[in-house]
Amino acid sequence: MSDAYAVFGNPIAHSKSPLIHAEFARQTGQDMRYAALLAPLDGFPAAVRAFQLAGGRGANVTVPFKAQAFDLATRRTPRAQAAGAVNTLKFEAGGSVGDNTDGAGLVRDLVGNLGLSLADKRILLMGAGGAARGVILPLLEQKPASMFVANRTALRAVELVNHFCSLEGAEGEIQGANLMQGGSYEALAGRQFDVVINATAASLAGELPPLPEDVFAVDALAYDMMYGKDTPFLAFARAHGARTADGLGMLVEQAAEAFQVWRGVRPDTAPVIQMLRNA
Ligand code: ATR
Repeated sequence: MSDAYAVFGNPIAHSKSPLIHAEFARQTGQDMRYAALLAPLDGFPAAVRAFQLAGGRGANVTVPFKAQAFDLATRRTPRAQAAGAVNTLKFEAGGSVGDNTDGAGLVRDLVGNLGLSLADKRILLMGAGGAARGVILPLLEQKPASMFVANRTALRAVELVNHFCSLEGAEGEIQGANLMQGGSYEALAGRQFDVVINATAASLAGELPPLPEDVFAVDALAYDMMYGKDTPFLAFARAHGARTADGLGMLVEQAAEAFQVWRGVRPDTAPVIQMLRNA
């Protein structure tokens, strides 16, 4: 029988992950299947355990279970540790390895697909929830000139920055210190950024974070982690001269990274992104 994988979420019906992984499997000739499974809000660990006991080899985890997946994993990769959340589980005898491929997916989309170099760039990351936290370490690893984390509740941004400023990298250096700052949107007055990333939930509600009009540097890229429709943030960015991108590439790239974790093969993402754009 083919190897079984699944994505757990609630809701999950509209997940594009089964389509993406089916395409990856076809492309790379991997003998596997991938299902979307609805876990009850109070029954995520039990649902994962049942899937593992039934022979499942690994799982993706989406909203609202990424923090629970972090707790459930018996081992965690450094990038999952930094993110404080797990979106990819690889089952092993007696437990599971928890990984987080969201940040790597974002960086691959920015650098690989959109042709951006993040080195020496000024990054503005909007939001201080799980989505923001999940991408900070991989962004820092690209050696930007600076990273400002802006949040409606400024204290959350400051706390997040403090957390990353106390984290040691692989070589023992502190990754975020000196280049990270956190604060309110008002604190952005008079500052410009080369890359502005929306990791807030504002787009979901059709809202625009309170950005100053002159926040975009010349040739800036505005990136919304949401995908599927134009957002007030992307419209605002376009109106102020920035290039824009939605999160569809990130979605496919985080899936490719998970696929590689499970199968040891890297799928070709470009045709899959194209397929979803045309769908
Ligand atoms: P997630 O895991 O998706 O990051 P979360 O932890 O609930 O979800 O965080 C949502 C983020 O979106 C927060 O940074 C939130 O700001 P607050 O911490 O001030 O609540 C941000 N957010 C939600 N709606 C927003 C809006 N309309 N404008 C700006 N930021 C918003």
